[in-house]
Amino acid sequence: MTTPTTRRLDTTDLVARVKAMYEEVALTPEREFHFETGRRLAEHLGYPASDLDAIPPEAIDSFAGVGYFLDLAAISPGEVVLDLGSGSGTDSFLAAVAAGPAGAVVGVDMTPAQLAKATRLAATAGLVNASFLEGYIEHPPVVTGSVDVVISNGVVNLSPDKPAVFRAAAAALRPGGRLALADIVTATPLPEGVTCDAALWAACIGGAAQRDDYLTMIDAAGFAVETVRDNDYRFVSERAAGATATYGVRSISLLARRR
Ligand SMILES: C[S@@+](CC[C@H](N)C(=O)[O-])C[C@H]1O[C@@H](n2cnc3c(N)ncnc32)[C@H](O)[C@@H]1O
Repeated sequence: MTTPTTRRLDTTDLVARVKAMYEEVALTPEREFHFETGRRLAEHLGYPASDLDAIPPEAIDSFAGVGYFLDLAAISPGEVVLDLGSGSGTDSFLAAVAAGPAGAVVGVDMTPAQLAKATRLAATAGLVNASFLEGYIEHPPVVTGSVDVVISNGVVNLSPDKPAVFRAAAAALRPGGRLALADIVTATPLPEGVTCDAALWAACIGGAAQRDDYLTMIDAAGFAVETVRDNDYRFVSERAAGATATYGVRSISLLARRR
């Protein structure tokens, strides 16, 4: 499905901007972005401190998620997990701890600096069941039907082809497998001035879909949405906060099951 947005947005420029922004998040997380990063954000969103204590602090420094959803994912020992847009690895590492030595986590990301950081941290922390692959979330490099749980945090909003992302998640999952994620949606559809602004897309606002449209895309990909909840997430820059207030930009966490 091609939305009007994808026709007007320069997607090559978008991908370059998203890569540049998240390279900075990996390399210089202390910098100021449109959005918060790091452990304080993770704890504010509901990540249990004791869980965060079990994974590499450097990964958490570059955490740029928008909500907590791992309670919804309820990952069991031995499960295989795919993290779409794994960044520096916070959710992948938490999933790797939950899946244990009999399970496995594969994180997919398109930004080399994020992949390099997550791969280095997995090795130094001995999290040998977590691995990271370069790829796009619209067609992640995994075997069809090989995954128990797909997770993702703050990423699908960045994709100009969200239906392709949800179809890819459904294809990766075994029947009955779960999709658990946090993402940015809006109350009202965003106007062109926002959706054509690649800088606002890269900041996790410009690409946000209207909430009901987002859920419809998940359903259309072959999922039954079971739980949706709102998160207490705020953008920090004035411009981002303005768009948030005007269009009802907010974060949700959800659980869906592959039919
Ligand atoms: C907001 S960050 C979130 C990272 C991580 N999930 C976290 O919570 O810290 C978005 C990540 O998604 C990646 N990304 C964005 N669009 C992507 C795409 N189409 N394919 C693969 N990775 C993508 C970026 O490189 C970045 O690392």
